[in-house]
Amino acid sequence: MIKVLDESYASDIARLEGSCLGEQAWTESCIRQEFLNTFSTYVAYCIEDNVVATAGVRVIGDCAEINNVAVDARYRRQGIAFALMRWLVDYCRQCGAGIISLEVDVSNIAAIALYVKTGFAITALRKNFYSHSDGHSDAYTMQLTL
Ligand SMILES: CC(C)(COP(=O)(O)OP(=O)(O)OC[C@H]1O[C@@H](n2cnc3c(N)ncnc32)[C@H](O)[C@@H]1OP(=O)(O)O)[C@@H](O)C(=O)NCCC(=O)NCCS
Repeated sequence: MIKVLDESYASDIARLEGSCLGEQAWTESCIRQEFLNTFSTYVAYCIEDNVVATAGVRVIGDCAEINNVAVDARYRRQGIAFALMRWLVDYCRQCGAGIISLEVDVSNIAAIALYVKTGFAITALRKNFYSHSDGHSDAYTMQLTL
């Protein structure tokens, strides 16, 4: 079951992002800020009330962006991220967005395949987009036109 989250889930989101996204995870305070942003929405895939996957989306006018898709490692390869992505695309369409963008590390084969399956295409390469304790990595910008 997919549901829209409120701020009471901020610590659950932070824990899940921390375990899935490593150094790219947002801090709990950053996530709490996101709930104050009227353009932002966090959604979760829940199994028996347990949050097993989360993702964030911002819709600002015609443009939407998807952030931080994260699926608990114990629940991967079951179609959960794809279900979340389809929900998010429908949500963006209903909000009136014409285009959805996201960034993904060029080495993240699983996520790139997920986004391609959802209909996204690579539109740009952003050099040194991600910072790590031991350097930088490049990102692809991917877009889906609605
Ligand atoms: C990427 C991630 C979100 C995929 O979640 P998931 O629930 O396992 O994905 P799904 O089961 O819905 O798979 C949907 C599609 O994604 C692709 N995919 C998912 N995992 C994959 C893997 N390990 N290798 C290759 N392709 C993969 C496939 O195209 C798959 O479709 P298929 O099952 O028909 O082959 C998950 O691996 C994850 O949380 N990774 C760590 C966090 C992360 O990298 N997030 C993305 C940040 S941009």
